[in-house]
Amino acid sequence: MENKVFHCIDVQQFDYDYLEEICDLADKIREISRTKAGMEYLASTLNHKRAMLYFVQPSTRTFLSFYSACQMLGIKCAEVRDPKTSSEIKGESEEDTVRTFSLFFDLIIMRHPRANFAKTIANLLNNTDHPVPVINAGSGKDQHPTQALLDIYTLRRSFLHRGGIAQKKIAFVGDLRRGRTVRSLAALLTQFEEVKLYFVAPPEYQIGQDILSLLDQQKTAYEITDDFEKVIPEVDAIYMTRLQDEWDQEEGAHVDIDIERFSFQKRHLELLKPDGIIMHPLPRRQEIAVEVDSDPRAAYWRQVRNGMYIRVALIADIFQRDKKILDYYLSNNL
Ligand code: NCD
Repeated sequence: MENKVFHCIDVQQFDYDYLEEICDLADKIREISRTKAGMEYLASTLNHKRAMLYFVQPSTRTFLSFYSACQMLGIKCAEVRDPKTSSEIKGESEEDTVRTFSLFFDLIIMRHPRANFAKTIANLLNNTDHPVPVINAGSGKDQHPTQALLDIYTLRRSFLHRGGIAQKKIAFVGDLRRGRTVRSLAALLTQFEEVKLYFVAPPEYQIGQDILSLLDQQKTAYEITDDFEKVIPEVDAIYMTRLQDEWDQEEGAHVDIDIERFSFQKRHLELLKPDGIIMHPLPRRQEIAVEVDSDPRAAYWRQVRNGMYIRVALIADIFQRDKKILDYYLSNNL
């Protein structure tokens, strides 16, 4: 694979061919990792590298997913999760803080409440003599590119025997205005032929105009509605999300909505296509009833596992180890 991604900042960087290649690499890594010898091989590929996980916004699953992805490749990790323990408390700018870290590490993975912070750091490092790759692990209300990659990987695996993602109908439900996972995935789905997206939310939480403009530009079909039950039987995948009310304070407003109308209950399973799937980036609140978990169409736990493999693939690709891994796969007759 030609190395197309150095910094991973937003989904606009990925085209269809890249998505195919990275998902294929993740599948191979999954196979390789099934044996002890395979795991040892993977852990030898980047064991001379060190990563800084700069996660100054709450996170456990994405943090641990990246942490285990690095471990699988042998990368040693350090972490900063609370800026109060660093010199920022002495008045240092965050840009200076992260630039300092970049001098100790070979990769920076960051989650940050500011929309453009990862991009700012990537640009800043590009102009230094030690530019290390930056991966955006979630930036404000804006983007979450690696979540979108794992969501694409999950959709691709789910529709493997149904002609792939092309022509599928996908519904997004919940807080679409502030949910960065929805924004990133909706943008990335424009890479697939004839998909149709449904945005199901109360008007206050509908998807942003910037994403709709992108869909118009790419000629991706969509529908905007608040009628969840009507949409369920029509679609191949339903992407549930929680209310992102941690932003209420900053926005100075709280809108009371009937969350029940935008949640997947046990009775909805009957409405869903027999081969439809239910996704969720997690953490979940009450948007999906726990009784739904045991239905084979519930894909959200598989999604978590897929996230680890796609992140291993992404990091391996950034460090141009993709070809070597594919060679290992072939030479071991996997
Ligand atoms: C999401 C996030 O942080 O944007 N979580 C995740 O990364 N899996 C979704 C959320 O917090 O609702």
